[in-house]
Amino acid sequence: MAVNALPLSAVVAVIGAGAMGAGIAQVAAVAGHPVRLLDNRPGAAQQAIEGIRAQLGKLADKGKMTAEAARAAGERLQAAENLAQLADAGLVVEAIVENLEVKRALFRDLEAVVGGHCIFGTNTSSISVTAIGAGLQNAGRLAGLHFFNPAPLMALVEVVSGLATDAAVAETLFATAAAWGKTPVHAKSTPGFIVNRVARPFYAEGLRLLHEGAADCATIDAVVREAGGFRMGPFELMDMIGHDVNFAVTRSVWNAFFNDQRFLPSLIQQELVDAGFLGRKTGRGFYSYAAGAERPAP
Ligand code: NAI
Repeated sequence: MAVNALPLSAVVAVIGAGAMGAGIAQVAAVAGHPVRLLDNRPGAAQQAIEGIRAQLGKLADKGKMTAEAARAAGERLQAAENLAQLADAGLVVEAIVENLEVKRALFRDLEAVVGGHCIFGTNTSSISVTAIGAGLQNAGRLAGLHFFNPAPLMALVEVVSGLATDAAVAETLFATAAAWGKTPVHAKSTPGFIVNRVARPFYAEGLRLLHEGAADCATIDAVVREAGGFRMGPFELMDMIGHDVNFAVTRSVWNAFFNDQRFLPSLIQQELVDAGFLGRKTGRGFYSYAAGAERPAP
Protein backbone atom coordinates (compact mmCIF):
# COMPACT_ATOMS: atom_id res chain seq x y z
CA MET A 1 0.00 0.00 0.00
CA ALA A 2 1.62 3.29 -1.06
CA VAL A 3 0.69 5.84 1.57
CA ASN A 4 1.93 9.42 1.60
CA ALA A 5 3.49 11.30 4.49
CA LEU A 6 1.47 14.10 6.03
CA PRO A 7 1.76 17.21 3.85
CA LEU A 8 4.04 19.92 5.23
CA SER A 9 1.03 22.23 5.46
CA ALA A 10 -0.46 19.94 8.15
CA VAL A 11 -0.28 21.40 11.65
CA VAL A 12 1.55 19.09 14.07
CA ALA A 13 0.47 19.52 17.68
CA VAL A 14 2.74 18.18 20.40
CA ILE A 15 1.32 17.79 23.90
CA GLY A 16 3.87 17.66 26.72
CA ALA A 17 6.81 20.05 26.48
CA GLY A 18 9.27 17.95 28.47
CA ALA A 19 12.40 16.26 27.17
CA MET A 20 10.58 14.24 24.52
CA GLY A 21 7.85 16.68 23.49
CA ALA A 22 10.37 19.46 22.94
CA GLY A 23 12.57 17.16 20.85
CA ILE A 24 9.64 15.95 18.74
CA ALA A 25 8.43 19.53 18.22
CA GLN A 26 11.93 20.44 17.01
CA VAL A 27 11.97 17.53 14.54
CA ALA A 28 8.55 18.43 13.10
CA ALA A 29 9.40 22.14 12.81
CA VAL A 30 12.73 21.43 11.10
CA ALA A 31 10.89 19.14 8.68
CA GLY A 32 8.70 22.11 7.74
CA HIS A 33 5.40 21.74 9.64
CA PRO A 34 3.69 24.47 11.61
CA VAL A 35 3.97 23.15 15.19
CA ARG A 36 1.89 23.92 18.29
CA LEU A 37 3.27 22.89 21.65
CA LEU A 38 1.01 22.52 24.69
CA ASP A 39 1.83 21.69 28.31
CA ASN A 40 -0.32 21.91 31.41
CA ARG A 41 2.50 23.54 33.39
CA PRO A 42 2.09 27.29 32.87
CA GLY A 43 4.94 28.74 30.79
CA ALA A 44 6.48 25.32 30.04
CA ALA A 45 5.64 25.30 26.32
CA GLN A 46 7.04 28.79 25.74
CA GLN A 47 10.16 27.92 27.73
CA ALA A 48 10.63 24.76 25.67
CA ILE A 49 10.26 26.75 22.44
CA GLU A 50 12.96 29.16 23.56
CA GLY A 51 15.18 26.16 24.36
CA ILE A 52 14.55 24.68 20.91
CA ARG A 53 15.36 28.01 19.20
CA ALA A 54 18.61 28.19 21.16
CA GLN A 55 19.36 24.62 20.12
CA LEU A 56 18.66 25.43 16.46
CA GLY A 57 20.93 28.47 16.74
CA LYS A 58 23.75 26.25 18.02
CA LEU A 59 23.23 23.83 15.11
CA ALA A 60 23.49 26.77 12.70
CA ASP A 61 26.67 28.00 14.44
CA LYS A 62 28.19 24.55 13.99
CA GLY A 63 27.26 24.57 10.28
CA LYS A 64 24.79 21.68 10.65
CA MET A 65 22.00 23.80 9.17
CA THR A 66 21.83 27.25 7.64
CA ALA A 67 21.03 30.23 9.85
CA GLU A 68 18.00 30.86 7.64
CA ALA A 69 16.69 27.29 8.09
CA ALA A 70 17.21 27.55 11.87
CA ARG A 71 15.34 30.84 12.02
CA ALA A 72 12.48 29.55 9.83
CA ALA A 73 12.10 26.36 11.91
CA GLY A 74 12.10 28.44 15.10
CA GLU A 75 9.32 30.62 13.71
CA ARG A 76 7.16 27.61 12.89
CA LEU A 77 6.88 26.84 16.63
CA GLN A 78 4.02 28.28 18.61
CA ALA A 79 2.91 27.70 22.19
CA ALA A 80 -0.74 26.74 22.67
CA GLU A 81 -2.68 27.56 25.81
CA ASN A 82 -5.40 24.95 25.61
CA LEU A 83 -6.70 22.00 23.59
CA ALA A 84 -9.10 24.20 21.60
CA GLN A 85 -6.08 25.86 19.97
CA LEU A 86 -5.14 22.47 18.47
CA ALA A 87 -8.47 22.11 16.65
CA ASP A 88 -6.92 22.34 13.15
CA ALA A 89 -4.12 19.82 13.78
CA GLY A 90 -3.52 17.08 11.22
CA LEU A 91 -1.41 15.12 13.70
CA VAL A 92 -1.25 15.28 17.49
CA VAL A 93 1.74 13.67 19.17
CA GLU A 94 1.24 13.08 22.88
CA ALA A 95 4.36 13.09 25.09
CA ILE A 96 2.93 13.58 28.59
CA VAL A 97 3.35 11.59 31.78
CA GLU A 98 3.63 7.78 31.37
CA ASN A 99 0.23 6.97 32.88
CA LEU A 100 -2.57 5.12 31.12
CA GLU A 101 -5.51 6.96 32.68
CA VAL A 102 -4.00 10.41 32.10
CA LYS A 103 -3.19 9.61 28.46
CA ARG A 104 -6.65 8.11 27.88
CA ALA A 105 -8.38 11.16 29.33
CA LEU A 106 -6.27 13.47 27.17
CA PHE A 107 -7.13 11.65 23.93
CA ARG A 108 -10.82 11.53 24.85
CA ASP A 109 -10.80 15.31 25.39
CA LEU A 110 -8.87 15.80 22.16
CA GLU A 111 -11.35 13.80 20.13
CA ALA A 112 -14.04 16.33 21.03
CA VAL A 113 -11.90 19.17 19.66
CA VAL A 114 -10.09 18.04 16.49
CA GLY A 115 -11.43 17.11 13.04
CA GLY A 116 -12.22 13.55 11.94
CA HIS A 117 -9.08 13.37 9.75
CA CYS A 118 -6.67 14.12 12.62
CA ILE A 119 -4.22 11.33 13.47
CA PHE A 120 -3.19 10.66 17.08
CA GLY A 121 0.34 9.48 17.90
CA THR A 122 1.35 8.52 21.42
CA ASN A 123 5.01 8.61 22.41
CA THR A 124 4.37 6.14 25.23
CA SER A 125 7.42 4.02 26.02
CA SER A 126 5.54 0.99 27.18
CA ILE A 127 1.82 1.40 27.75
CA SER A 128 -0.50 -0.66 25.55
CA VAL A 129 -1.56 1.41 22.53
CA THR A 130 -4.67 -0.80 22.40
CA ALA A 131 -5.56 0.27 25.96
CA ILE A 132 -4.86 3.97 25.35
CA GLY A 133 -7.17 3.93 22.32
CA ALA A 134 -9.93 1.92 23.97
CA GLY A 135 -11.94 4.94 25.14
CA LEU A 136 -11.99 6.66 21.75
CA GLN A 137 -14.93 6.83 19.37
CA ASN A 138 -12.44 6.23 16.56
CA ALA A 139 -9.65 4.12 18.04
CA GLY A 140 -8.39 3.45 14.50
CA ARG A 141 -6.82 6.93 14.33
CA LEU A 142 -4.38 6.24 17.20
CA ALA A 143 -0.97 4.58 16.92
CA GLY A 144 2.25 4.68 18.89
CA LEU A 145 4.82 7.09 17.49
CA HIS A 146 7.72 6.27 19.76
CA PHE A 147 10.80 8.46 19.46
CA PHE A 148 14.01 7.95 21.43
CA ASN A 149 15.90 10.40 23.58
CA PRO A 150 17.15 12.87 22.34
CA ALA A 151 14.52 12.89 19.57
CA PRO A 152 16.39 15.25 17.20
CA LEU A 153 19.44 12.94 17.22
CA MET A 154 18.08 9.42 17.50
CA ALA A 155 17.04 7.96 14.16
CA LEU A 156 14.79 5.13 15.29
CA VAL A 157 11.03 5.61 15.60
CA GLU A 158 8.73 2.71 16.51
CA VAL A 159 5.33 2.99 14.83
CA VAL A 160 3.19 0.87 17.11
CA SER A 161 -0.16 -0.56 16.05
CA GLY A 162 -2.77 -1.40 18.67
CA LEU A 163 -5.47 -3.93 17.93
CA ALA A 164 -7.81 -1.23 16.55
CA THR A 165 -5.22 0.92 14.72
CA ASP A 166 -6.09 1.48 11.04
CA ALA A 167 -3.35 0.15 8.77
CA ALA A 168 -3.50 3.41 6.77
CA VAL A 169 -2.82 5.44 9.94
CA ALA A 170 0.25 3.34 10.78
CA GLU A 171 1.47 3.67 7.18
CA THR A 172 0.97 7.46 7.19
CA LEU A 173 2.95 7.76 10.42
CA PHE A 174 5.66 5.50 9.02
CA ALA A 175 5.93 7.60 5.85
CA THR A 176 5.87 10.82 7.90
CA ALA A 177 8.64 9.67 10.23
CA ALA A 178 10.70 8.71 7.16
CA ALA A 179 10.03 12.14 5.60
CA TRP A 180 11.29 13.70 8.84
CA GLY A 181 14.61 11.93 8.33
CA LYS A 182 13.95 9.13 10.82
CA THR A 183 14.27 5.37 10.49
CA PRO A 184 10.82 4.03 11.34
CA VAL A 185 9.95 0.41 12.11
CA HIS A 186 6.51 -1.11 12.50
CA ALA A 187 5.79 -2.89 15.78
CA LYS A 188 2.73 -4.42 17.39
CA SER A 189 1.53 -3.22 20.77
CA THR A 190 3.26 -5.74 23.03
CA PRO A 191 4.62 -4.63 26.44
CA GLY A 192 7.63 -2.33 25.94
CA PHE A 193 7.33 -2.77 22.13
CA ILE A 194 10.77 -3.71 20.77
CA VAL A 195 13.40 -1.46 22.31
CA ASN A 196 12.01 -1.08 25.81
CA ARG A 197 11.44 -4.82 25.99
CA VAL A 198 14.98 -5.82 25.13
CA ALA A 199 16.35 -2.94 27.24
CA ARG A 200 14.66 -4.11 30.47
CA PRO A 201 17.28 -6.77 31.32
CA PHE A 202 20.04 -4.23 30.51
CA TYR A 203 18.84 -2.00 33.35
CA ALA A 204 17.66 -4.83 35.61
CA GLU A 205 20.97 -6.72 35.61
CA GLY A 206 22.91 -3.50 36.22
CA LEU A 207 20.63 -2.74 39.17
CA ARG A 208 20.98 -6.29 40.52
CA LEU A 209 24.78 -6.07 40.29
CA LEU A 210 24.65 -2.80 42.22
CA HIS A 211 22.25 -4.26 44.79
CA GLU A 212 24.57 -7.22 45.32
CA GLY A 213 27.54 -4.87 45.80
CA ALA A 214 29.42 -6.37 42.85
CA ALA A 215 30.76 -2.95 41.80
CA ASP A 216 29.73 0.69 41.88
CA CYS A 217 27.73 2.37 39.10
CA ALA A 218 30.72 4.10 37.56
CA THR A 219 32.62 0.80 37.27
CA ILE A 220 29.65 -1.06 35.79
CA ASP A 221 28.97 1.78 33.33
CA ALA A 222 32.64 1.92 32.30
CA VAL A 223 32.83 -1.84 31.71
CA VAL A 224 29.63 -1.87 29.63
CA ARG A 225 30.79 1.17 27.65
CA GLU A 226 34.45 0.40 27.13
CA ALA A 227 34.49 -3.40 27.01
CA GLY A 228 30.92 -3.95 25.85
CA GLY A 229 30.95 -1.29 23.15
CA PHE A 230 27.70 0.33 24.31
CA ARG A 231 27.48 4.11 24.00
CA MET A 232 26.27 4.40 27.60
CA GLY A 233 26.14 2.11 30.61
CA PRO A 234 22.84 1.34 32.34
CA PHE A 235 23.17 3.91 35.14
CA GLU A 236 24.13 6.89 32.99
CA LEU A 237 21.39 5.92 30.54
CA MET A 238 18.73 5.70 33.30
CA ASP A 239 19.92 9.09 34.59
CA MET A 240 19.47 10.52 31.09
CA ILE A 241 16.01 8.98 30.56
CA GLY A 242 14.79 10.08 34.00
CA HIS A 243 14.02 7.64 36.84
CA ASP A 244 10.34 8.61 37.00
CA VAL A 245 9.98 7.65 33.33
CA ASN A 246 12.23 4.57 33.47
CA PHE A 247 10.60 3.23 36.66
CA ALA A 248 7.11 3.78 35.21
CA VAL A 249 8.15 1.85 32.09
CA THR A 250 9.53 -1.04 34.17
CA ARG A 251 6.36 -1.19 36.26
CA SER A 252 4.20 -1.10 33.17
CA VAL A 253 6.10 -3.97 31.48
CA TRP A 254 6.11 -5.96 34.76
CA ASN A 255 2.35 -5.47 35.21
CA ALA A 256 1.66 -6.30 31.58
CA PHE A 257 3.44 -9.66 32.00
CA PHE A 258 1.37 -10.49 35.11
CA ASN A 259 4.23 -9.66 37.50
CA ASP A 260 6.79 -11.91 35.80
CA GLN A 261 9.91 -11.86 38.03
CA ARG A 262 12.13 -11.25 35.01
CA PHE A 263 10.80 -7.69 34.91
CA LEU A 264 10.65 -7.05 38.68
CA PRO A 265 11.24 -3.32 39.36
CA SER A 266 14.19 -2.39 41.56
CA LEU A 267 13.85 -0.94 45.06
CA ILE A 268 16.96 1.13 44.36
CA GLN A 269 15.16 2.92 41.57
CA GLN A 270 12.00 3.22 43.67
CA GLU A 271 14.11 5.06 46.31
CA LEU A 272 15.50 7.48 43.72
CA VAL A 273 11.98 8.26 42.50
CA ASP A 274 10.71 8.73 46.07
CA ALA A 275 13.60 11.10 46.81
CA GLY A 276 12.96 13.12 43.64
CA PHE A 277 16.47 12.22 42.40
CA LEU A 278 15.26 11.75 38.84
CA GLY A 279 18.62 11.98 37.03
CA ARG A 280 20.01 14.72 34.83
CA LYS A 281 16.78 16.67 34.78
CA THR A 282 16.89 17.24 38.54
CA GLY A 283 20.69 17.43 38.82
CA ARG A 284 20.96 14.17 40.75
CA GLY A 285 20.31 10.49 40.12
CA PHE A 286 22.95 7.78 40.36
CA TYR A 287 25.37 10.60 39.63
CA SER A 288 25.42 14.29 40.50
CA TYR A 289 25.34 16.82 37.68
CA ALA A 290 26.61 20.36 37.81
CA ALA A 291 24.00 22.75 36.37
CA GLY A 292 23.69 22.03 32.65
CA ALA A 293 26.51 19.44 32.62
CA GLU A 294 26.23 16.62 30.12
CA ARG A 295 28.51 14.32 32.07
CA PRO A 296 28.23 13.29 35.71
CA ALA A 297 30.53 14.81 38.29
CA PRO A 298 33.29 12.34 39.23
P1 NAI B 1 8.92 14.84 31.02
O1 NAI B 1 8.57 14.64 32.45
O2 NAI B 1 10.23 15.44 30.64
O3 NAI B 1 7.77 15.72 30.29
C1 NAI B 1 6.40 15.48 30.39
C2 NAI B 1 5.69 16.82 30.20
O4 NAI B 1 4.28 16.59 30.09
C3 NAI B 1 5.88 17.78 31.39
O5 NAI B 1 6.33 19.03 30.91
C4 NAI B 1 4.47 17.86 32.01
O6 NAI B 1 4.20 19.14 32.55
C5 NAI B 1 3.59 17.57 30.81
N1 NAI B 1 2.27 17.02 31.14
C6 NAI B 1 1.96 16.05 32.03
N2 NAI B 1 0.64 15.79 32.00
C7 NAI B 1 0.11 16.62 31.05
C8 NAI B 1 -1.22 16.82 30.55
N3 NAI B 1 -2.26 16.11 31.01
N4 NAI B 1 -1.40 17.75 29.58
C9 NAI B 1 -0.36 18.47 29.11
N5 NAI B 1 0.92 18.33 29.56
C10 NAI B 1 1.13 17.41 30.51
O7 NAI B 1 8.72 13.40 30.35
P2 NAI B 1 9.40 12.83 29.00
O8 NAI B 1 10.68 12.17 29.35
O9 NAI B 1 9.38 13.88 27.96
O10 NAI B 1 8.37 11.65 28.63
C11 NAI B 1 7.11 11.93 28.05
C12 NAI B 1 6.56 10.66 27.41
O11 NAI B 1 7.51 10.15 26.47
C13 NAI B 1 6.29 9.51 28.40
O12 NAI B 1 5.18 8.78 27.95
C14 NAI B 1 7.56 8.68 28.29
O13 NAI B 1 7.37 7.33 28.66
C15 NAI B 1 7.87 8.82 26.81
N6 NAI B 1 9.27 8.61 26.43
C16 NAI B 1 10.30 9.06 27.23
C17 NAI B 1 11.62 8.84 26.85
C18 NAI B 1 12.76 9.33 27.69
O14 NAI B 1 13.90 8.89 27.45
N7 NAI B 1 12.56 10.21 28.65
C19 NAI B 1 11.95 8.15 25.59
C20 NAI B 1 10.81 7.81 24.79
C21 NAI B 1 9.51 7.99 25.22
